[in-house]
Amino acid sequence: MFKLLIVGNWKMQGTVESAVALASQLGEQWNSNKSVEMIIFPPFIHISAVAATIAETAISLGGQNVSEYPSGAYTGEISAEMLVDQGCKYALVGHSERRALFNESSETVAEKFKAAQSAGLIPILCVGESLQQRQDGQTVEVVSAQIAAVMNVAGLQNVCRAVIAYEPIWAVGTGETASPEQAQQVHSAIRAQLGEAGEATPLLYGGSVKAANAAELFAQPDIDGGLVGGASLEANEFLNIAKLIEA
Ligand code: PGA
Repeated sequence: MFKLLIVGNWKMQGTVESAVALASQLGEQWNSNKSVEMIIFPPFIHISAVAATIAETAISLGGQNVSEYPSGAYTGEISAEMLVDQGCKYALVGHSERRALFNESSETVAEKFKAAQSAGLIPILCVGESLQQRQDGQTVEVVSAQIAAVMNVAGLQNVCRAVIAYEPIWAVGTGETASPEQAQQVHSAIRAQLGEAGEATPLLYGGSVKAANAAELFAQPDIDGGLVGGASLEANEFLNIAKLIEA
């Protein structure tokens, strides 16, 4: 049995002081646990302070984004090796905010995925449809095309060694959540797309997850954890969500 994952994406929020305070609260209260892994994604600039804060805890660290290039004259970018050097184990790739606000194409996402994996990071590949696409009945088609774009570049086996997070765009940061049935339907389509090689690939749900809606989502057979944005900025709320994964 693989580990279930609870992921906190802090986005572009907080000072070094608030990041360290949040990390230390989580570190004090999160007991290392055989079945659930907690991963936090601070802003890049706070990573080294957060890494030092959680060094003696069971919490893992990740980068919210990663360059597709290994090193060189790429002003403002952060490479996969730099993330490894800071103690990161994971990298988010293809978050809907990166795709929509920073024009990351599926091809770029695939290159980022490959760069992360080649450096030894575990990519968390984010996929999801817009409201219009859902209303047009294109949800599964859109999500499977986003995954296929990465498979074409990285290969099926490598995609299956990663983590996939289904995050409907209309649910990210909006307070709207996919119903457990809507989420499960997409997760089971992703599981089918991965086939046998993906039986143990963790599939996360993200989009306005909070303690009040997490239990029902996590009870779905193909939901192996959550990717939490807003609700991960408050230690007790995030810990309460994490506990619902164990239940
Ligand atoms: P949210 O963000 O929980 O605030 O909707 C989720 C995410 O962006 O991963």
